[in-house]
Amino acid sequence: MLKTINTRRSVRKFRSTPVSDEDIHDLLEAAMNAPSAVNEQAWQFVVMSAKVLDDFLSINGNTPKSAPVAILVCQDLPAEKANGYSVQDCAAATQNILLAAHAKGLSAVWTTIFPHNVKAVQSLLNIPENVQPFSCVPIGYSAEGEKNTASRFSEKKVHRQSW
Ligand SMILES: Cc1cc2nc3c(=O)[nH]c(=O)nc-3n(C[C@H](O)[C@H](O)[C@H](O)COP(=O)(O)O)c2cc1C
Repeated sequence: MLKTINTRRSVRKFRSTPVSDEDIHDLLEAAMNAPSAVNEQAWQFVVMSAKVLDDFLSINGNTPKSAPVAILVCQDLPAEKANGYSVQDCAAATQNILLAAHAKGLSAVWTTIFPHNVKAVQSLLNIPENVQPFSCVPIGYSAEGEKNTASRFSEKKVHRQSW
């Protein structure tokens, strides 16, 4: 587990090799097993492949283009029991997708939708107004070389007992 966490790195170039439905299922399951505020699970997911992903990429330029599939993580605002916490739920779900992908030998990157591109994505994918696109995680087999996985641990970032 620690090796998976500490060697995960963002990948933005992918081979055309498809990702299996079973793998996508496992990533979604990992996302839905993330912690959430009062266990509200205030998330929804849209799986995008091929044509839909092409259209999506044309309106969301900060998501890289070559992935065969992507998972859009959305805040389910009506499901919130703790006001304003769906952002944190969705962040935890997004991180679980990244870690599960890496554990399976897949690669991925967290790309931003919220707060800048919410309306355009809702409109393209017919997402209701109270379901807010949060992040987009393109997933595939890496076409990048070896990543730098040197540890970023820094004692300077750690404060003990008080600042
Ligand atoms: C909230 C958040 C938003 C991010 N948005 C983008 C993005 O829009 N596009 C992108 O290519 N990477 C994005 N990233 C990935 C970061 O650039 C990346 O995690 C960071 O450079 C550290 O590299 P690493 O993931 O390889 O450890 C985002 C990451 C986070 C946590």
